[in-house]
Amino acid sequence: MKIHPQEPDRLQLASLPTPIVQAQRLADHWNIDRLVFKRDDLTGLECSGNKIRKLEYVVAAALESGADTLVTIGGVQSNHCRATAAVAARLGLHCRLLLRIDAAEPSTPVGNLLLDELLGADISYHSGEEFSSGRQHLIQGVMGVLRAAGKQPYFIDMGASIPLGSWGYIRCFRELADQLGADSPVDLYCATGSSGTQAGLMLGKALFGCDNWTVTGVPVCDDVEYFQREIRRLERATVSEFGLDVGEELTPINLLDGFKGPGYGVPYAEAIAALRSCARYAGLLLDPVYTSKAMAGMLANIRAGRARRESVPVFVHTGGAFGLMACSELFDTTATGK
Ligand SMILES: Cc1ncc(COP(=O)(O)O)c(C=O)c1O
Repeated sequence: MKIHPQEPDRLQLASLPTPIVQAQRLADHWNIDRLVFKRDDLTGLECSGNKIRKLEYVVAAALESGADTLVTIGGVQSNHCRATAAVAARLGLHCRLLLRIDAAEPSTPVGNLLLDELLGADISYHSGEEFSSGRQHLIQGVMGVLRAAGKQPYFIDMGASIPLGSWGYIRCFRELADQLGADSPVDLYCATGSSGTQAGLMLGKALFGCDNWTVTGVPVCDDVEYFQREIRRLERATVSEFGLDVGEELTPINLLDGFKGPGYGVPYAEAIAALRSCARYAGLLLDPVYTSKAMAGMLANIRAGRARRESVPVFVHTGGAFGLMACSELFDTTATGK
């Protein structure tokens, strides 16, 4: 059933609705009143995490356009690329991944990259420079080669954070409001990387009139000014493409600064400690790149007394467990000070 008259067509690819889980033992351990998880890490296995919600809409449009090949880009441990490869394999499409590497090509595939290969994706590796200044050229080149080979490629931008993809988290917001009650005060927290999750949740809050809810993102790269611009840009593009009646006064952009640590993908002690505590006291896994940093941010916010006392903090767990499997060196107990 459509959640909104303007909602575009979608494929049912994710296992929805994802569960809501109370983590009281973890809350007690951290000495906070309560803590609830929205388990979007359980949207599936091979396609688990937040990206599959966006891909439900984007891949529907790709099929509608007659595409037979999904092309996308991301880091070498991209959860989005792995989810795209899984969907392609499931639907009988080709998958072409352009992965960014900061050093040499990996000799042994681990984590998401291992799955990309098992799922049959064609992979090429590119430097950070090719990804930034030469990006359009790189993408056009790959699309051209595929077309020349008789394929019908469909390009999906980084993290599927495009207006169509925003519907993934508009729908997730609707699901949350149905599960928790639209009138009760709720503070949602999520990791923010390519902005689509946060922008979708913010739009959902505005569209479904949940005035007593807040949405807060924790950037895992770049800075707060960058995300103020990016989230607003994606929100405006979504509102305009789908003719949504949402004024910007309804979508304040809340961001917690200071939790990306030394940089994207570079862990730090508080985030690793949060990851360890979630595992031990709630039996659930965060990842080093996104959710552990978002959790560190949420926890610091609550502990500093900046969160509303009467509301329920809900951590939108966006997945990433395969990335965790790619960095066992972080858990050298001497390095983490455990
Ligand atoms: C596990 C995980 N959590 C959070 C995010 C951030 O979501 P978004 O890119 O929609 O901001 C990503 C991807 O970037 C991710 O892979």
